Amino acid sequence: MPAALSPLSPKRPRLLRPTPANLGRLATILRRGGLVGVPSETVYGLAADALSAEACAGIFTAKGRPGTDPLIVHLATARDLGRVAIPNPAALRLAEACWPGPLTLVLPKQPCVPDIVTAGRATVAVRVPAHPLFRKLIRLCGRPLAAPSANPFGYISPTTAAHVRDGLAGTALRHVLEGGECSVGVESTIIDLTDARSPRLLRPGGLAVEAIEAALGQHVIRPRPARLAVGTSAPAPGMLTQHYSPRTPLTLHARIDAQKLAEMPADEAALLLRRPSSVKDGDIRVRWLSETGSLVEIARGLFAALRALDAGGWKHLHAEIPSGSEGLAPAIRDRLTRAAAKR
Ligand code: TXA
Ligand code: MG
Repeated sequence: MPAALSPLSPKRPRLLRPTPANLGRLATILRRGGLVGVPSETVYGLAADALSAEACAGIFTAKGRPGTDPLIVHLATARDLGRVAIPNPAALRLAEACWPGPLTLVLPKQPCVPDIVTAGRATVAVRVPAHPLFRKLIRLCGRPLAAPSANPFGYISPTTAAHVRDGLAGTALRHVLEGGECSVGVESTIIDLTDARSPRLLRPGGLAVEAIEAALGQHVIRPRPARLAVGTSAPAPGMLTQHYSPRTPLTLHARIDAQKLAEMPADEAALLLRRPSSVKDGDIRVRWLSETGSLVEIARGLFAALRALDAGGWKHLHAEIPSGSEGLAPAIRDRLTRAAAKR
């Protein structure tokens, strides 16, 4: 029996190029309650009609996601915010300054948003994505789209259409809209604006908190940063939940220098933040995310590099984490720390 017909190889979703005909077809699938893999500037999403509880139930099943974890609702334009949420002046200011972009706002919800989307909460998470194809699809289907990252729950988030196809094979997902590599590479920053007087950071992400504070003219409360798991693969118990995780054990380091690399066993591999000053030609155990240490480049390549290392058959992985609280450093640190947390 040819491999493609083997009952052992799960059916993989198809990648569709963004032609007008394909976009129209995907909009119809969404309107009928189906699932579509969609590109965004942060990570690829697994989208369904946000106003249909039944359609959104399909997202939880395909991802193996617990029903207690609420979804983000995506809009084509900030003008639609009032359709799904009850805005306040702070939210309107941020929407005006930062959308479309990698920022999600948590606000009181409108009654039309089903409980399954918000996991029964009185609030809803909303964002207007910057990827033009995602917005086009929302406009074409005429509904807000609920979309978590398009990966099996707990695994590394997808930043290419092929990651989605490979990760969600064998699920109800049949189509992924091809939209290139994600330009930001980590998920959106989530700000709770339920109380407009005290905005609160819920998840560091692709938009720096300093930029949000500048746009808001207000301090954003940051929860106590997760204690870092430098030099160990187990963070302080209870401080972090495991997520974004490769299957290969991962240990974090403040710095992996030439000596550490030289001492690393042959069946282990390292992910560095920047190009090392000296590395042996053709040493496939060592990868780096940026030539110069640019946080933007590091974030963009992080998930794809973790996936590649996870597929490399290594016994153990090592990764450097950035220090500091500026720019994308907290988001990169957050993802790596969760990726290294023990199951
Ligand atoms: O960049 C992103 O945000 C991507 C793309 C696809 O837009 N989406 C994404 O979704 O990262 P997901 O499902 O992986 O993360 C959604 C998180 C939830 O885990 C939860 O922490 C938070 O958003 N969230 C959603 N609704 C919330 C609510 N009502 N209150 C508090 N947190 C909420
Ligand atoms: Mg996710």
